[in-house]
Amino acid sequence: MIERKSAREVEKMIQAGELVAQIHRDLRKLVKPGVTTAELDRFVEKEMKQAGATPAQKGYQGYEFATCASVNDEICHGFPRKASLKEGDIVTVDFVLDYEGGLADSAWTYEIGEVSREIRQLNDVTKEALYRGIRAAKAGNRTGDIGAAIQNFVEPFGYGIVREFAGHGIGPTIHEEPNIPHYGQSGRGIRLKEGMAITIEPMINTGGWRAKMDSNGWTARTRDGSLSTQFEHTLIITDGEPIITTEQDA
Ligand code: MF3
Ligand code: CO
Repeated sequence: MIERKSAREVEKMIQAGELVAQIHRDLRKLVKPGVTTAELDRFVEKEMKQAGATPAQKGYQGYEFATCASVNDEICHGFPRKASLKEGDIVTVDFVLDYEGGLADSAWTYEIGEVSREIRQLNDVTKEALYRGIRAAKAGNRTGDIGAAIQNFVEPFGYGIVREFAGHGIGPTIHEEPNIPHYGQSGRGIRLKEGMAITIEPMINTGGWRAKMDSNGWTARTRDGSLSTQFEHTLIITDGEPIITTEQDA
């Protein structure tokens, strides 16, 4: 059963999304050589609390942190830690915020200082892939239309699209149906309806798509050691353009 949100739930999700967007804007200034992901995690949690929100990831299925912070070849669910980020690194900071029962989930890859041209292109392609997926996410379309829009754009660059993790329905819990793969065939999958809330969050690798799991049981990294980036928004489906609750440029 896929939930369609009430007007009140949508309102709460939009408020949650605005808070997430503001925290990401604030992070931009902090993510510099020398900072640690543990510091970023503390900053995000503090900002959430000051806004009267809570970190929905903390305690979720035993996950212990407010954020996931995935560096370089880490795909997702990296643990915040005490090592400093270095010039040329990339870090994906991903978090879910709960504001009075409304959830918002957004991941963003940050470049540490100057990064290589290769990394800049990977980031640009992944972000564009997210927005192409978003444009396909309207009532009447199917989940496969989102996946196909992303796959058709990304694969000509020779990049790998992570398959083990997907976008998802969101609210009342972090992960709800439907599952939204970032590859697929148009016209296939679940039909999108007005009022559904979903995430789109492509994870794209410079190398192959395959992932391996770290011994911590959470963190996924590329099997071939290639670099991985991710951009994620939370959306509300309408019969036109979806509402991007976590848009930072609004
Ligand atoms: N934002 C992450 C996702 O979309 C949430 C991960 S749940 C956690 O999958 F427990 F790992 F934080
Ligand atoms: Co998500």
